[in-house]
Amino acid sequence: MKQLVLLASLLLLSWTTTAATPEINIVPKPLLVKPAEGSFTVDAKTTVAAGPDKELLRVGRLFATMIEPVTGHNLPVKRSSANAAILLSVNDDLEEEEYRLTVTPHDITVQGGSPKGVLYGLQSLRQLIVDGGGVVPAVEISDKPFFGYRGAMLDVVRHFMPVEDVKAFIDIVAMHKLNRFHWHLTDDQGWRIDIRKYPDLARVGSIRKETLFGHLRTSSEYDGTPYGGYYTQSEIREIVNYAAERYVEVIPEIEMPGHALGALTPYPWLGCRGEGYNVWTRWGISSDVFCAGKETTFEFIENVLAEVIELFPSKYIHIGGDECPKARWKACPHCQQRMKENGLQNEEHLQSYFMQRVEKWLQAHGREIIGWDEILQGGISKTATVMSWRGSKGGIAAAKAGNKAIMAPNTHCYLDYNQTAEPRYEPLANGKYLPVRTVYALDPYDQLTPSERACILGVQANLWTEYIPDFFHAKHMLLPRLAALAEVGWACDRKDFEDFRKRMSHFRKTYDAAGYNYATYFFDGKDE
Ligand code: ACM
Ligand code: ZN
Repeated sequence: MKQLVLLASLLLLSWTTTAATPEINIVPKPLLVKPAEGSFTVDAKTTVAAGPDKELLRVGRLFATMIEPVTGHNLPVKRSSANAAILLSVNDDLEEEEYRLTVTPHDITVQGGSPKGVLYGLQSLRQLIVDGGGVVPAVEISDKPFFGYRGAMLDVVRHFMPVEDVKAFIDIVAMHKLNRFHWHLTDDQGWRIDIRKYPDLARVGSIRKETLFGHLRTSSEYDGTPYGGYYTQSEIREIVNYAAERYVEVIPEIEMPGHALGALTPYPWLGCRGEGYNVWTRWGISSDVFCAGKETTFEFIENVLAEVIELFPSKYIHIGGDECPKARWKACPHCQQRMKENGLQNEEHLQSYFMQRVEKWLQAHGREIIGWDEILQGGISKTATVMSWRGSKGGIAAAKAGNKAIMAPNTHCYLDYNQTAEPRYEPLANGKYLPVRTVYALDPYDQLTPSERACILGVQANLWTEYIPDFFHAKHMLLPRLAALAEVGWACDRKDFEDFRKRMSHFRKTYDAAGYNYATYFFDGKDE
C-alpha cells in the first residue's frame, strides 16, 4: 500500500512538473534549452544590475526600453547587484556572440562573451517575458550563432525611408539577432547620401521627376509627382551609431558601374555619352552606366569613397557590380581605348578591370569589397567577397574558387517577392512567389564540400523597394519572413520547420508588443 501511495505521488509529481514546465519558445532557435522548475516574474519592481561596465549599463537600459510594453515602465538599471533580479555580466570563456541565460525562481542571469552576446541573451529573455506576460519559466539556455554574417538589406533608393524608419529597420534587424545592415544608397532612381565634394549628387541626383505607377510589366502610367530624399552626413553618422549601439554593422552600398543614373544626371561627364541623363522614373536596368574609360570617373569614385569610408567604419564596402549592360562601353572611344591599352578582350573584362581597380583603392584604405555575383564574370580578385543573388550558383562558384561568399539568393532571400500563391489578395509586389517555408528551406552549403563551406560567411535577406512605398509596407514584407532567414543564419544546424512554426506563434507576440505590423498569411495558413 505504502509503495502504491509512493508510486501514485511520484506519478503525480512527474505530471505536475511537466504541467508546470511551460515550453520555451524562442526565435531563432537556441542551441541548448534545459527547462527547470518554477518561474520568475518580471514586473515594475524588478531591477537590472550591470556591474561597473558602462557598455553593459547601456545594454541594460536598452533592454529596459524593449520590455516596457510588458512591465509598463522603464526598469531601473544599476551597477550594484544588491537586490537586483536580472544580472548581466561578460564571461570571457564564451565566444563573442555567445550567451547563457539562466532563469530561476530567485533571479535571472545573462552572461555573454561580450556585451553583444549579453544583448542577444536579453533579446531571448525579451521574447520569454512577452510570451508569458512577465512570467518567465525557469530555464537554462546556452546559445550561439551558426554563421558570423547575418544580414538584411534595405533599398532606400526606389523608395526613400526617413531616419526614424531606418532606425526601426535596425531595431528589427537586432531583434532577430542579425548583425549586418546592408544599406543600398545609390541607384538609377536616386542618389541618397550627401557627398561634400559633389553637392549636386544630393541636390539634383536625389530627385526624380515622377514615379511609375503600378507594375513595371503592365504599366506605362506615371504619378506626375516629383520624388526625392537623401541623408545628410550627420544623419548617416547618427544611424551608424544607432546601429553600433545595437551591435549591427552598417555596410553601405555605392553602386557601380551600372545603376548609376543618380550620379550621371548631376555630373553627365561620368557617362560615356556625356549628356542626356535623367534620374530614372521607372524600374529595371538602365543602359547608361559609368564610363570605364575616362580617368575622371575613377577620380570621382575615389573621392566619393573617401567620404564614405569616413562615415562608415565597416570592414566591408559594397560596390554593387550587378546588371551593368555593356552597350555604351562598346560604342565609347574612351572605353575601347582603355580595353586596348590594358589588353582586355571584351567588355566583361573591362568591368573586371573597373571593379578590381576600385577594390585596390579600398584595400589601400584598409577596406574590403563585397560585390553582387556578376563580379565573377570577366575574372575576380582573390580577395573580393561575392554576394550571391541570382540563385545560389554565384556563391557556389565563388566558394569553389576560394572566394568568400554571402548567400542572398533571390530564390530564398528576396523579401520583395509575393508571400502567397494568390497575389491578387496581396498588395502589389514583384510577382514571384516566396513563402516563409521557402525562405526557411535555404541551404547555404548546398553543393559544397566541407572545405568550400568555410568560404560561406553567412546569409542575407534583401528588401528592394520598387513596390514598397513606405515603412509600414516594408514591415508587411519583412515580417515574419525575416524570422525564417534569421533562423537559417543563427540555427542552420538545428532547423525544423514545424517547430519553427510553433515558436513563431509565440514570437509574433513580440512583434505585437513592439508595435510592428506584419503579414499574417503564414500564421493563418494562407501562404501555401
Ligand atoms: C540585384 O537584385 N540586382 C542585386
Ligand atoms: Zn565610356
